[in-house]
Amino acid sequence: MQNYLPNESRYTNGMQFRRCGKSGILLPSVSLGWWHNFGAENDYDHCREIVRYAFDHGITHMDLANNYGPPPGHAEEMMGRMMQDDLRPYRDELFIASKAGYVMWPGPYGNWGSRKSLMASLDQSLKRMKLDYVDLFYTHRYDPETPLEETLQALVDIVRQGKALYVGISRWPLHALKVAIKYLSERDVPPLIYQGRLNMLDRAPLEEGILEECHNNGLGFISFSPLAQGLLTDRYLQGSVPQNSRMSQGRFLKEEMLTPELLAYLNEQNAIAQAKGQTLAEHALRWILEQKGVTSVLVGASSVEQLKKNIKAGCE
Ligand SMILES: NC(=O)c1ccc[n+]([C@@H]2O[C@H](COP(=O)([O-])OP(=O)(O)OC[C@H]3O[C@@H](n4cnc5c(N)ncnc54)[C@H](OP(=O)(O)O)[C@@H]3O)[C@@H](O)[C@H]2O)c1
Repeated sequence: MQNYLPNESRYTNGMQFRRCGKSGILLPSVSLGWWHNFGAENDYDHCREIVRYAFDHGITHMDLANNYGPPPGHAEEMMGRMMQDDLRPYRDELFIASKAGYVMWPGPYGNWGSRKSLMASLDQSLKRMKLDYVDLFYTHRYDPETPLEETLQALVDIVRQGKALYVGISRWPLHALKVAIKYLSERDVPPLIYQGRLNMLDRAPLEEGILEECHNNGLGFISFSPLAQGLLTDRYLQGSVPQNSRMSQGRFLKEEMLTPELLAYLNEQNAIAQAKGQTLAEHALRWILEQKGVTSVLVGASSVEQLKKNIKAGCE
């Protein structure tokens, strides 16, 4: 591939930036998730095209985690390679997140939320991504066994060490989120953002008061799996499973989910989208972005064509 020169109009071609809660950070309305599509089986140049396209269109926020791949760690390694090949000169234009909390290495310290696990995992992530620091470091999930204060103090110390600029909370229940907001704010490391699954098929953060809690306390909110892993796109409208789709892998998205009721709902929403001149994906993403307190949607994309459609939702 040729040397990368980003599109000069990357900040003027329509992407809307939104303030993340009450912080100084602006995030693009559409951000790029690296959970799938950046594994060892994915072609590097194909992935590089997706990331270049994203950055060229104002997607400054890249969301990774220690375990993204497969194999775990591979997405971060790819980020490290892209840093070397394309992105290093633009490091200060990028807002890069990583996380720890799911199983990453064998034994009792490669999982969950202990200080030991979080600290070691972030050091590994920085090496893989060839970075000195991440912009945002998340506790990836709630750990019912580790004292919350231990996990939270590790986040405070990670910021103090300069290894992360901000911290975030992912998938914690409301009662624990409240503890986190208080603990971190009292130590001058207020959490920047909460990451939760919110989409037209799964409205839990709205219904359980997470979104409201974030809004009332100055945290941003970013929605993961905003397209329900592809269900809220035109991929499954016929009720069949396309080759090479996430459902065809049968790991995180299963064929049994395509019930007649779901298909009827998806086709109904698709008709509403079409009447507005939108794709179902754009319609679904815009629905999320209209919810009070939402900062950004974290889309996955297995091709530039998909990303192109999704980006429209974040543009005026
Ligand atoms: N905090 C957490 O615990 C957590 C959990 C899950 C995800 N996340 C984050 O959220 C990000 C997004 O999650 P996700 O990948 O599930 O998001 P998603 O946007 O709901 O689904 C992405 C998948 O949908 C399909 N797709 C996307 N746009 C499409 C379009 N325009 N037309 C047709 N199909 C389209 C593609 O699947 P095909 O492969 O079928 O093409 C794509 O890989 C992750 O990468 C990760 O960063 C965080």
